[in-house]
Amino acid sequence: MNTVVVGVQWGDEGKGKIIDLLAETADVIIRYQGGNNAGHTVVVDGEEFIFHLIPSGILHPGKLCVIGNGVVVDPAALLDEIEHLRAKGVTVGDNLVVSDQAHVILPYHKVLDKLQDARSGRLGTTGRGIGPCYVDKMARCGIRLADLFDPASFERKLRSNLDEKNWLLQHFYHVEPVAWETTYPRYLDYGRLLKPYAGSVATLLHEAMGQQQSLLFEGAQGTMLDIDHGTYPYVTSSSATVGGACIGTGVPPKQLDRIIGVVKAYTTRVGEGPLPTEFPPDRMEVFRQRGKEFGATTGRPRRCGWFDAVVARHAARLNGLDELAVTKLDVLDGMARLKICVAYRIHGTILHEFPADIEALNRCEPIYEELDGWRDSTSHVTSYDGLPSAARQYLRRIAELVNVPITLVSIGVQRRQAFRVTINAHAA
Ligand code: GDP
Ligand code: IMO
Ligand code: MG
Repeated sequence: MNTVVVGVQWGDEGKGKIIDLLAETADVIIRYQGGNNAGHTVVVDGEEFIFHLIPSGILHPGKLCVIGNGVVVDPAALLDEIEHLRAKGVTVGDNLVVSDQAHVILPYHKVLDKLQDARSGRLGTTGRGIGPCYVDKMARCGIRLADLFDPASFERKLRSNLDEKNWLLQHFYHVEPVAWETTYPRYLDYGRLLKPYAGSVATLLHEAMGQQQSLLFEGAQGTMLDIDHGTYPYVTSSSATVGGACIGTGVPPKQLDRIIGVVKAYTTRVGEGPLPTEFPPDRMEVFRQRGKEFGATTGRPRRCGWFDAVVARHAARLNGLDELAVTKLDVLDGMARLKICVAYRIHGTILHEFPADIEALNRCEPIYEELDGWRDSTSHVTSYDGLPSAARQYLRRIAELVNVPITLVSIGVQRRQAFRVTINAHAA
């Protein structure tokens, strides 16, 4: 059984926590897109781990963790993450494989990311060099992990890139160039340090499937940040929808058995771009504090809003979601009334589908349905029946509006604060 976990909204839905739970029954856990713009949090016995590149399954002994060809790898960030985990007593060795075809983030990618973001558009990127690295991949001038193992090839490719990027840095942005003298030897060192982890991911995953092992694909970011299907240009530069799992690993679509969408019981986004159900400042602050809505990668405050069923329905279609895992239901505890956005209104017309045009989206006003809240805390609940009846109704309404059954509910950061449910999309 091969499972893909994708974010339904704008990232930070709690994918790390869900992956950690599902990893128990998987053999191989694979990151397939994005880079260290991701921050996936797992809390075990009160200890917090934030994963940026390494799959969140690494905390489970005996599992193989894989970074696919679709991921962009900052070698320094990966080595730091390995060290950090080892310092906390987590084994990282033969259980980690990184695709030798993965593209490498170089210093000029990070410098350009910040300069370009400040100059135009202001997406509020994470500044990790993700976009510029994917640009080079598509322009076919990128440097892949395997290139770092071949000094002559790396020299040729790095010189050619530095010629171009340094011209831009010096003559267009008027900043210091990236020095060859420090970059070349440093990245050869990274190559030496990462070589033991490098491998051919597609081959390895096909062998694993041949042995009936189960694969668990860990999506990063979320559907609305997908380069094609998200709120372009306010997106990330990779395919955060389910197709990315195939492209980013070499596992064909027919091998994907189960697609799980992770969705927060409300909505958040970090950085710029449309967020139709965004709260006014006073309510925003309440959610931010209760939900601890600060970015796991950059620490930036996340913008918060009501649950948007238009977004979730759109994501359900694009990803072919079989199941929903709803997280952070506990954050809604104690609220008298709750709202769910069921459609948008634009110039008097009612829209049930997510508009492709960002200008139209900017003009959309959410149409809300109101539901009763619940008073009691849900953080100790262990089953659907243990939830307050208004919470059950809230979940049932989500399943119905999104037209996907809910199979998992999370009500806190700890492993035990989650339980399986069967909430059908159609009322019985
Ligand atoms: P990811 O990027 O999708 O893995 O999500 P992040 O880790 O960036 O953000 C989710 C945050 O919510 C983390 O701090 C998690 O520890 C926390 N979290 C996950 N599930 C729950 C939940 O059910 N309730 C609460 N209160 N926090 C949760
Ligand atoms: P996880 O995997 C939330 C956002 C950034 C910015 C936009 C582009 O933890 O859910 P980038 O650096 O990718 O070019 O920035 O995308 N972004 C995320 N927001 N969660 C993430 O990852 C994100 N990764 C990127 O804030 O708006
Ligand atoms: Mg995150």
